[in-house]
Amino acid sequence: MCGIVAYLGKKAAQPILTEGLKRLEYRGYDSAGVALLDGGALQIKKTSGRISGLEEILENPSYTQTLGIGHTRWATHGKPTTINAHPQTDFSGKIAVVHNGIIENYGTLKTWLKSEGVEFVSETDTEVVANLIGYFYNQYKEKDQCDKENGQCRFERAVQRSLREVHGTYGLAILCSDYPDMIIGAKKGSPLILGVGNDEYILASDASAIVEHTTRAIYLNDNEMIVVEPGGFRTLTSNNVPVTKSLKDIEFSLEQIELDGFAHHMLKEIFEQPKSLETCMGGRLDVQDSRIVLGGIAGKLRDLTRTKRLILTACGTAFHAGLVGEFLFEHLARIPTETEYASEFRYRNPIIEDGTVVAAISQSGETADTLAAVEQAKERGATVIGLVNVVGSTIARTTDSGIYLHVGPEVGVASTKAFTAQVTVLQMLAIELGRRKHLSSYEAAKLIEQLAAIPEKIKTILEQSEHIKQIAAENIHHNNWLFLGRGFNYPVALEGALKLKEISYIHAEGLPAAEMKHGPIALIADGMPAVFIAPKGPQYDKIIGNIEEVRARGGRTIVVATDTDTEIEQYADHLITVPDVPEMFQPILTVVPLQLLAYHAAVLKGRDVDKPRNLAKSVTVE
Ligand code: G6P
Repeated sequence: MCGIVAYLGKKAAQPILTEGLKRLEYRGYDSAGVALLDGGALQIKKTSGRISGLEEILENPSYTQTLGIGHTRWATHGKPTTINAHPQTDFSGKIAVVHNGIIENYGTLKTWLKSEGVEFVSETDTEVVANLIGYFYNQYKEKDQCDKENGQCRFERAVQRSLREVHGTYGLAILCSDYPDMIIGAKKGSPLILGVGNDEYILASDASAIVEHTTRAIYLNDNEMIVVEPGGFRTLTSNNVPVTKSLKDIEFSLEQIELDGFAHHMLKEIFEQPKSLETCMGGRLDVQDSRIVLGGIAGKLRDLTRTKRLILTACGTAFHAGLVGEFLFEHLARIPTETEYASEFRYRNPIIEDGTVVAAISQSGETADTLAAVEQAKERGATVIGLVNVVGSTIARTTDSGIYLHVGPEVGVASTKAFTAQVTVLQMLAIELGRRKHLSSYEAAKLIEQLAAIPEKIKTILEQSEHIKQIAAENIHHNNWLFLGRGFNYPVALEGALKLKEISYIHAEGLPAAEMKHGPIALIADGMPAVFIAPKGPQYDKIIGNIEEVRARGGRTIVVATDTDTEIEQYADHLITVPDVPEMFQPILTVVPLQLLAYHAAVLKGRDVDKPRNLAKSVTVE
């Protein structure tokens, strides 16, 4: 993981780097650092912990250099100490590197460099890259005078040569103190974007660190390098083939990623859902003409309609959205569907036959396992589509076609508005495929109308936020919770449990309610909270039975039920209500109170809601 940012321009680089790092902090926050370059001297400042700690070190004196690189770390190789923080430098102290990714052959390279007399100070794989560049830089010493002849300087050649030795993934930004007007970037498997402003350039892991300065950017592809100098930039492959890139518009604004009066990004994103789902459906769901227009997959609709088997693959919250999709495609489009963890799919020997479609679901579009699953599926000849939020992300570019979520940036590490949008996109796709196969026009029209009405219905759930906070307050002293649901609401139970554990650190387990009797029921005692997702639907009576089983054993029930249900109160120690909608649309509504429950529990427990320990928003390592 990790976030990288680099600046070259006319302004002081330091505040631009630290602001950029704060926007990238969702990618990891174990340590932070910057390297600034002025007139041949590298200034490196770094610390374990957050960007705020780095700012304290940088406060006095303030630095005026106009070129620099910065990093926020999610530790992989080596503990989150200051020594292991980036930038990492080479043995000569001339080369400084920030890195996002994993160098898989770092052990071999380190052993070899050590045998050449190079000493290491950190435990990181990144220091190997710095030393490798330093090593080749020294090798090219004698050619220094003539190396501009082939359009490349010694620094660039050393980077290029080093990249040929490196296996693994990287987004890199590199400085060399002998070249005080140059930043070199390189990408393989980790994202890297160059924002192009007026006389200034910002190289970063994603657009959130760039939009404050410019909305024009180029997106690097794997195995590409970029050399940025005051007059412009050049892109080339690591094999030295020049590449022409075109400028693209970054599609989200700074306002979208700021807090807007909310205490946390997560809360803002939960409350944004009525709006974000409207945006997600906007221009796609045509209630008047009873049509669904999914432009991004228009060219693939024939293939998709003939799908014989659909595999949904994803990680984390997106995986739970996929599980809802499984029910949807079977129910509405009669397509055999299975949902696979991307991390498992990629290492299996999947059977991809004619008519197999793989749909990758990812908020960030950068999750390493999901990307690898996409590559595996493509290699085996599947039609691969992406359901992705971040426009221009790697998965979006790697899939054959796709549907963007269009909910704007999601900053809180715990995914909320992306989940409801993922489910919405799956619903639109399932209805459209169903319509092309066997649903009558009347049925399709009805479904389109019902789906279009969902965003407005979320508002009545958000109004219960204070009530849900009270429920959280009365139960957070319990260290173990169960989340139980059936059918379409079984994935919601998994998601509710994930939300609670990831941000409040309370242990929670999500289950299909009927499975409780096969083991987990043994846990129920002494007021243990059991959250039931029990809206009116085909399995309502069954879940009431499960609620009774928990109450009979001393469990405490928190029940999410339909607002018109007059019976339910007698079964609930705590009741939260959602509007009445058909079962297939329920997950979008029933997940919202669980997001709020987890949020309030975490705040009441004094947790860092937007940056929970050990996690990162975008997991670009295996
Ligand atoms: C991380 C995040 C989760 C997210 C998962 C998949 O674990 O903390 O919130 O669901 O990655 O991310 P993606 O960007 O692929 O949806």
